[in-house]
Amino acid sequence: MVSSVRAKLRMTSRSRIVFVLGAVILISLYVYHINIIHTYRPPDISEIRVSDELVTIAKAIKQKHGFVVLQFLNSGFLTLTKNWICNVECFSILPKTIFITTDVDAYRGLAEWKDDLNVILLEYGTKHEMTYGEVIYYYFGLFRVKIMNQLLQRNFSIFETEADATWFDDPLEYFAQSSVDMVVMQNKGKHCQHCMVNGGFLYINATHTSQRMWNELTRQLTEKMKGYRNQEGWRNIGMAGSEQVFLSDIIETEKSANIQWLPVERFVSGLWYTNKEIRSHTQPIVILNNHVLGNAQKIERAKLWGHWSLSADNIRCRHDNCHKDIVKI
Ligand SMILES: *[C@@H]1O[C@H](CO)[C@@H](O)[C@H](O)[C@H]1NC(C)=O
Ligand SMILES: *[C@@H]1O[C@H](CO)[C@@H](O)[C@H](O)[C@H]1NC(C)=O
Repeated sequence: MVSSVRAKLRMTSRSRIVFVLGAVILISLYVYHINIIHTYRPPDISEIRVSDELVTIAKAIKQKHGFVVLQFLNSGFLTLTKNWICNVECFSILPKTIFITTDVDAYRGLAEWKDDLNVILLEYGTKHEMTYGEVIYYYFGLFRVKIMNQLLQRNFSIFETEADATWFDDPLEYFAQSSVDMVVMQNKGKHCQHCMVNGGFLYINATHTSQRMWNELTRQLTEKMKGYRNQEGWRNIGMAGSEQVFLSDIIETEKSANIQWLPVERFVSGLWYTNKEIRSHTQPIVILNNHVLGNAQKIERAKLWGHWSLSADNIRCRHDNCHKDIVKI
């Protein structure tokens, strides 16, 4: 009798300890989270340089293919990137692609997943998810612009891509084969007068004109983002730091530049998912999964539309990962 009461008491004090420990852990996680959100400042951008390793890999790819495909990611974007890799396995794009990862988890997540990918690590910024509009998102954009510009000034032509997209065919077959400075995609998907380019899907031919334009873009964007240096990283600043806005203005100003605008019926933005009319007028080669905020939403939407090529455990590519036959209506 007495011993069973003691046992009960011991149990209660043990569960008390568990409860208190749990509460302490939860509170520390919460404080940690608040600290990340509210005290995180964008890291310094002035010392950003391409690495020797990046240039060496880029040279080897350029020698074989004439240009390099670039894709930038942190670990917040890892699952979307793996999905894209599964999606494009049926095209000849991966051997031309360099994945520039900005944290160790993203680097390992790709390099240890498939050992024939070109993956390099250039540490920058946060490993957490970033969303369009946030200071930290635009700093990441500026980091990307700087690296791209440094490669461009070394005469590397660049096809910049992003993982939140579904490819139904190799877009390169639709690029002009003669003398362009840049191939760009319209961000909205309508015919327009003052079009906004998409910052995540463009081909830059390394010409004097494109090199001048990208020097100008880098200069303007660096100047703009200086003003946000001491801001909270996750503060939303609307479109203020958007390289798409700056690049679109530069394209309008550079009358002599030879720009190929990809047809809006074949290269469509994420409005395709929400706008029935756009769907009825288009035969997409590429659909960007943009005009939606947050990676969870992007993933959910892709899955809903059958545009998801990664297995449920995020480890393997689905056997039906090539969408070639889906939208070729
Ligand atoms: C880039 O190409 C131009 C010729 O178009 C050449 O003058 C220049 O030295 C090259 N730059 C580099 C860094 O190789
Ligand atoms: C890139 O520019 C050069 C001229 O500097 C031109 O000869 C070439 O055709 C261009 N490449 C593409 C794919 O437009």
